[in-house]
Amino acid sequence: MDKLRIIGGRPLNGEVTISGAKNAALPELCATLLTAEPVTLTNVPRLRDVATMRLLLDNMGVQSETHGERGGMSFQAPDSLKPEAPYELVKTMRASVLVLGPLLARFGRARVSLPGGCAIGSRPVDQHIKGMQAMGAEILVEHGYMVAQLPAGKTRLHGARIATDMITVTGTENFLMAAALAEGETLLENAAQEPEITDLAEMLIAMGAKIEGHGTSRIHIQGVDRLRGCTHQVVADRIEAGTFLCAVAATGGDVILRHARAEHLDAVIDKLHDAGAEIEAGDDFIRVRASGRLKAQSFRTTEYPGFPTDMQAQFMALNCIATGSSKVTETIFENRFMHVNELVRLGAKIQTDGKVAVVEGTDKLSGAIVMATDLRASASLVIAGLVAEGETIVDRIYHLDRGYDQMEAKLRGIGADIERIK
Ligand code: EPU
Repeated sequence: MDKLRIIGGRPLNGEVTISGAKNAALPELCATLLTAEPVTLTNVPRLRDVATMRLLLDNMGVQSETHGERGGMSFQAPDSLKPEAPYELVKTMRASVLVLGPLLARFGRARVSLPGGCAIGSRPVDQHIKGMQAMGAEILVEHGYMVAQLPAGKTRLHGARIATDMITVTGTENFLMAAALAEGETLLENAAQEPEITDLAEMLIAMGAKIEGHGTSRIHIQGVDRLRGCTHQVVADRIEAGTFLCAVAATGGDVILRHARAEHLDAVIDKLHDAGAEIEAGDDFIRVRASGRLKAQSFRTTEYPGFPTDMQAQFMALNCIATGSSKVTETIFENRFMHVNELVRLGAKIQTDGKVAVVEGTDKLSGAIVMATDLRASASLVIAGLVAEGETIVDRIYHLDRGYDQMEAKLRGIGADIERIK
């Protein structure tokens, strides 16, 4: 298993190019199932999760090819494909559930494995099932699979008003894709507002879908008979950008993030600003400058546009070496403090009580061997390792490879002493 070896204590300086967003690319790969025409995505990040999603599509019979250096990928989903997502693939990536909506909408049936357990929380998919049922699907859970079909005599899903019990990102994406090809109107209430939802909606509109209100909590979709192929550029990864911002704020330095969208990171940038980092942003870049210890910041994770749960661990790493104490409240997932005990191994002072972690800033961390437990936890350990005195080894970085495009190469490019050990 690969590990990262980091020698901490170097400031970061220079430029980094931010990749396309994992959490936009994954639903957008699934949206290619909605048409038999070729669909081209550009700016697709090179990630393990993208490779898994591609394998899942290949396994159904979707033809795909990559082209060029700029993350270009084309897909063609024939009418004859097998609408099935097997356990072996779904268990490695929960986002596989995103095939449910497009398969039901275009083929009228789907057999999709239930994802099973997850390190950061129980993460059920009950809302996805309820929404598809509201659109007319019959769904049975048997032998660990969701077996979905349309009632006898029906050839399409129908529009519905769907109000989920909580805000769900992939749930909203599944409903958007299903409703795009359903008969009649769908109204999504309590919809997620993440920039990745907006990006998916824009791709669907380019395919001929009729969608209004994306980016708000009420999305209106008028179903159409068929969708066509399109070319779509995946939006920049706000979480990758936020991770680099926290890394520079922690180590000190001066870095420009190219292709980063500051307007998608308001909540994180506000906190970094209050902490004492200097942030400057234009249409397509964010520049961050920091020196010395910053001031710790309390925050609470919430749905977009609030502070993202996917940035909680990375900002906590920054709080560990800031001045003062901070209170971090995680409201989205019930088990997303797995990085805490690893940060403590590096010398951090953190106490947790349920969904709250209290961090007492310390003036130094000291390198150690630590273990990554999930994607964003891994990123927080890398940030802590960049600051810690001496050598830090981050084990199990396959988690990092799921969601960061060449993170260690990008960090090396701005001056970090970091290498991958095979
Ligand atoms: N929930 C349910 N039932 C459902 C759906 C969700 O109870 O049917 C609960 C979840 O258990 C959770 C809350 O609702 O407590 C919100 O979950 P959501 O459905 O929004 O999460 P997700 O769609 O499974 C996406 C991202 C996650 C990100 C969350 C929250 C993708 C592929 N994944 O997950 O990304 O943390 O939204 O913003 O978009 C990551 O990139 O590291 C990651 C985990």
